[in-house]
Amino acid sequence: MTAIPTIDLVDALASEYADKSPSEILELALNQQGEIAISFSGAEDVVLIDMAHNLGKPFRVFSLDTGRLHAETYQFIETVRKHYNIQIEICFPEAEAIQNLVNEKGLFSFYQDDHKECCGIRKVQPLRKKLATLDGWITGQRKDQSPGTRTDIPVIQADAGFSGEGKQLIKYNPLANWTSADVWNYIRMMEIPYNPLHERGFTSIGCEPCTRPVLPNQHEREGRWWWEEATHKECGLHSGNLKK
Ligand code: ADX
Ligand code: SF4
Repeated sequence: MTAIPTIDLVDALASEYADKSPSEILELALNQQGEIAISFSGAEDVVLIDMAHNLGKPFRVFSLDTGRLHAETYQFIETVRKHYNIQIEICFPEAEAIQNLVNEKGLFSFYQDDHKECCGIRKVQPLRKKLATLDGWITGQRKDQSPGTRTDIPVIQADAGFSGEGKQLIKYNPLANWTSADVWNYIRMMEIPYNPLHERGFTSIGCEPCTRPVLPNQHEREGRWWWEEATHKECGLHSGNLKK
């Protein structure tokens, strides 16, 4: 086990690991002292779970259940839980906050008001609560996922958005340099389970009312919050990407 990197060492470690494989970056993360967990969306980021499983080290996984995921995604999360024989820590939104929003503005307020308020309650608050218990988290973010917001993400970074008073949170993005094609080659080659929505034109998968399939040659992000500007397509989980 190695000590979790201090903030002044994170950039150097990111440079050192910039050209390493996702599995090596993941291994580094899983070797760190402290509480680290993989953040699993129920989509193609399942490759992180497969790689962690193959490394043979203990690992934790959490998933944010917004209450609005596709039925297929819930079934897939359960498939993954059983396939790898792991616990998936499910994080729910705060009941009163979501009840107030829905009672006041209805179930589809995001189509009028934009997605920030709903994502704030259903995703960001539960994530904040979870991350307060962790020292680091591992995400499936990739540079090619979002031309407007993710092209510069490093493989390891200090998570300014979610670090608390006196506690530095580290964010690992082992797939940052992989393309969608790399991920799908891995899924097919290793014959690992995947979300059946991918067979129906869904490239990027989020909540059901805010995700739709894309046409050939459309970018995957165009299927998310399609009624909003492309540059704003972050829901707050990775808000640091927007500050640049
Ligand atoms: S989002 O911010 O637009 O919703 P995206 O779907 O691209 O994120 O997924 C990028 C990474 O964010 C995932 O690989 C995962 O690590 C994390 N993530 C996204 N949604 C969830 C979720 N519901 N639960 C846990 N992690 C998530
Ligand atoms: Fe709400 Fe849509 Fe955000 Fe899901 S993606 S939390 S339904 S606004």
